[in-house]
Amino acid sequence: MGLDVERFIEDAISEIRQEVKGKAIIGLSGGVDSSACAILARRALGDRLVPVYVDSGLMRRFESDRIEELFKELGLVRVNAEERFLSALKGVVDPEEKRMIVGETFIRVFEEEAKRVGAEYLLQGTIYPDRIESEGGIKAHHNVGGLPLKMEFRGIVEPIRDLYKDEVREVARALGLPMEISERMPYPGPGLAVRIVGEITKEKLEAVRTANAIVEEEMLKFKPWQAFAAVLGQATGVKGDNRVYGWVVAVRAVTSRDAMTADVLELPWSAMRRISSRITGEIPGVSRVVYDITPKPPGTIEFE
Ligand code: XMP
Repeated sequence: MGLDVERFIEDAISEIRQEVKGKAIIGLSGGVDSSACAILARRALGDRLVPVYVDSGLMRRFESDRIEELFKELGLVRVNAEERFLSALKGVVDPEEKRMIVGETFIRVFEEEAKRVGAEYLLQGTIYPDRIESEGGIKAHHNVGGLPLKMEFRGIVEPIRDLYKDEVREVARALGLPMEISERMPYPGPGLAVRIVGEITKEKLEAVRTANAIVEEEMLKFKPWQAFAAVLGQATGVKGDNRVYGWVVAVRAVTSRDAMTADVLELPWSAMRRISSRITGEIPGVSRVVYDITPKPPGTIEFE
């Protein structure tokens, strides 16, 4: 049986009204989950909701400006926290440690903003698969398992915690969100931090950000569940007349229903060649491009 969307929206609004006393903030990343949640909370709380967008420095190209533009009517507060995230992540190579640090830094920023605006509640767009994977110990998704144990909130409210992604999209459409949000690919909370294997540096971030932009642009017409690029390590190549020891970029594109399992998207060879030549041509530090052909399981969707 499908989801009764109108009923769900009504129930979610009354639940938010019941749980939140006074003001709340919501971590709005611009993904479909937090955006749908923000609209629900806005309907429930009106001006008592303050949406906060944190620019972690781990976001996609042009993302922060676009989200600010799209949600300015909701009174979005933008916090530029790039240096804070990067210095917290300096030297860290373990994927779960990265998640914990990103989760903790987000929460500390939210706490500070909440204090500033006098809000005691935090709304989050956690969905069902996030909870399952965190509880099952597969990965500590940053908005679940990566939460620090001590948080200065009176309550955390997760109105869409029982929904799957395709159900969230239905709700987002019904709430009138634009297609660029409701149909958007999932993007992990820790962002590019989990698309760089090993230590995060500004140089790798720049390379992976450009590679992600190219992959998204080129893959759009193939309608993947998710498509992205990750920096894996370094390898030798030749560029012009020189040998270079450059980045190895992996391209990954998958189909899925709920991200619990995934299949590799079969791309035409010409599309793969085009992506490879664009990435090596447009990013000076990249020497190689590989395509990941591992389904989930045994791979996960992200590399970390
Ligand atoms: P994996 O890599 O676990 O990803 O197969 C499943 C889905 O979750 C996203 N993902 C995350 N989302 N915090 C998030 O909010 C995370 O730490 C995280 N790790 C993975 C991933 O992009 C995919 O859609």
